[in-house]
Amino acid sequence: MPVLPADSGSVARAAELLRRGGVVAFPTETVYGLGALAFMPEAVARIFEIKRRPHFDPLIVHVLDETMLSRVVASIPSAARLLADRFWPGPLTLVLPKSDEVPELVTAGLSTVAVRMPSHPVARALLAATGAPLAAPSANLFGSLSPTRAEHVAAGIGDAADLILDGGPTEHGLESTIVAIEGTAELLRPGAIEIEAIEAIVGPLGAAGASAYSAPGMLPHHYAPATPLRLIDPVTVPMLDRSRAAALAVRDQFEGYAVSRRLSAGGDLREAAARFFETLHELDALALERIDVQPIAESGLGQAMMDRLRRAAATFGL
Ligand code: TXA
Ligand code: MG
Repeated sequence: MPVLPADSGSVARAAELLRRGGVVAFPTETVYGLGALAFMPEAVARIFEIKRRPHFDPLIVHVLDETMLSRVVASIPSAARLLADRFWPGPLTLVLPKSDEVPELVTAGLSTVAVRMPSHPVARALLAATGAPLAAPSANLFGSLSPTRAEHVAAGIGDAADLILDGGPTEHGLESTIVAIEGTAELLRPGAIEIEAIEAIVGPLGAAGASAYSAPGMLPHHYAPATPLRLIDPVTVPMLDRSRAAALAVRDQFEGYAVSRRLSAGGDLREAAARFFETLHELDALALERIDVQPIAESGLGQAMMDRLRRAAATFGL
């Protein structure tokens, strides 16, 4: 599987592969995506195969600009317009009424489409070179840790992609925030844009419908490393055997663990989020018995990280 540094030559090559129905991994400002032309269902089908992703879980469509957006959505409610004007290009995904042109496979048969206008220069160059919207989920196997580096993509999906564009580590390190606009704005997934910043524009967000399937990918078991992960505060729990375990916290470090990692010595949540998946990948690679993660205060990006951690812990029933 070729991994190429992202430059004008490799981006042109990627665009050519995509036009022929290929699947290409590329960096965005959130995590790496695994892309295919959204209007080419045979290519999109390969994304599901490579990720081993169930077909009921719809994909995010990436657009370069308003012209591309207008091919993907049927309408733009006023609350969506406000959010798009404020946060695009950037790590916000809006769930909007789909246009007829978007294949059912992309949206898992829903009448809505998740769409986002990325800011990453490589993602934008690729969209400009293909001239067409790209359907792209995160470039990891279904249910596993999201990739924030080209190396994570290569390790996870191996040879399956036709090309991996290496643009270095991603800026935010967490997936986009997903908001559905159906009458009112509803939060489907906390992510790289703080909920507080979104609510400052459109008012209080409704909670995602009790059904996990309103954002089908938001299954209770997700984002999991191979190593059992539990959310537990090492400060307050008794010293269970730590010698074969790793600890992870935003600012604290703990005695007795095989390794204890902090995400930001200064307690900066942006820095912590940017290193979040990357550090989990590193700890997972140590193949220890357990990863103990200290719960994170749930405001701002802390909410998005806790969302991922709960799903990871649930995978192990921990
Ligand atoms: O930052 C991101 O959003 C990254 C980059 C690559 O853009 N993409 C990403 O995609 O995280 P993925 O597939 O891993 O997560 C997309 C989520 C899934 O939970 C999916 O169920 C939900 O978006 N989704 C997609 N279309 C939807 C729709 N029409 N209605 C509700 N949820 C939808
Ligand atoms: Mg994902």
